[in-house]
Amino acid sequence: MEKLWTGRFHKQLDAAADDFNASIRVDKRMVRHDIEGSLAHAAMLAAKGIIPAADAEAILAGLGGILDDLASGALPIDLAAEDVHTFVETELTRRIGDAGKKLHTARSRNDQVALDIRLTLREDAAGLQNHIKTLIQALAQQAEEHANTITVGYTHLQRAQPITFGHHLLAYTMMLLRDGERLQDAAARMNISPLGSCALAGTTYDTDRLGVAGALHMQGVCLNSLDGVSDRDFCVELASTLAIIMMHLSRLCEEIILWCSWEFGFVELDDAYSTGSSIMPQKKNPDIAELIRGKTGRVYGDLLALLTLLKGLPLAYNKDMQEDKEAIFDAVDTVKACLGMAAPMVATMRVRPENMRKAAAGGFINATDCADYLAKKGLPFRSAYKATGEIVAYCIAQGKTLETMTLAEYQQFSALFEQDVYAAIELSNCVLRRNSLGGAAPEQVYMQLAYVKERIAAW
Ligand code: ARG
Repeated sequence: MEKLWTGRFHKQLDAAADDFNASIRVDKRMVRHDIEGSLAHAAMLAAKGIIPAADAEAILAGLGGILDDLASGALPIDLAAEDVHTFVETELTRRIGDAGKKLHTARSRNDQVALDIRLTLREDAAGLQNHIKTLIQALAQQAEEHANTITVGYTHLQRAQPITFGHHLLAYTMMLLRDGERLQDAAARMNISPLGSCALAGTTYDTDRLGVAGALHMQGVCLNSLDGVSDRDFCVELASTLAIIMMHLSRLCEEIILWCSWEFGFVELDDAYSTGSSIMPQKKNPDIAELIRGKTGRVYGDLLALLTLLKGLPLAYNKDMQEDKEAIFDAVDTVKACLGMAAPMVATMRVRPENMRKAAAGGFINATDCADYLAKKGLPFRSAYKATGEIVAYCIAQGKTLETMTLAEYQQFSALFEQDVYAAIELSNCVLRRNSLGGAAPEQVYMQLAYVKERIAAW
């Protein structure tokens, strides 16, 4: 395929260098958006009298035909083209002749590619937000079913206090809500048109940059042409949001992996989202959750690749920046795939309340409630804490639990203990009474559920 830059050159690019230089294999996924940008640009060129109306009409019709043929599969992407921009322009000129050669007036591939990435990622961000919504719905559904299911809350992975399983799951919906909104923010900030920055310095033509931005449903234009073609901070911003999403998914998956171990037995994954072992017939492995956890590193890597690739680059465009797409598209695809797996995995996961209850009965997770009982009877909390600590040590030595201590035993530690201590340390009471705003009590779980549903309804 003939290069866009012939003229100055006497010799062809070395074949291996040509292949090394090409980006079509990666940037072909922007083809629709490349054409969308060209349609807006060509219409503006005609409206401003920069190219004849008849040429613009031929360009618009030609680009429309290319879009149709790409959609129907009649036109395959030519991987011999250097990049997607070259492919579209060459195909257009092949179809409509010289008019096609006028499309690139008052434009450079530098502002063109900066636009294409923004348009592509804007759409990707919206799609990802929808995926997050589906996962939030799956978590909320399980949380609603288990608003009253008592389980163990941990700190340091040590049994800490009784909570409801619904409360635990809703913690993740809060994180994912913020992630969805971070995606929205990133999409809004990138939705500014660099087109018209041209190679780096703007143009001598009387263009209408704001009109083009409006036609592309963008919220304005980059006001400095060097900035318009130089920065990829919007890729970094999206990648950092994607890294945060993966961090959250990996924590959720880690918990699911623990929960479906024999040691916990809190949940069982559906057969459709588990795999077996090639040698151990008894195994049911949480491979999907593990893979999501594993792919987190890959998305962190994409973020680091972007930051490192941009670091120290002089203004304006440098070819290094071609590497941006591979990293950000990989991050987008990976997160999309992970969210797409996490949602049905959570939705179909079977919860084992009886095992949660069994775990909650051990580990003295009502010890704080015992201390609170004494404190509410007038003992300073620190003294109540100490007395309860001594009771726990006594129980461990005697092989007892707070529930099986006799009242006489309790009273050896404090005269404040009365018969009502048993109600105070009863697990479902402990949970019911954690009714502070945002606490683990079922009433608070329902409040959170309503909040989450309302927020995602606005997405
Ligand atoms: N394929 C290039 C990229 O992705 C397009 C821009 C090329 N610009 C240039 N001056 N060579 O960055």
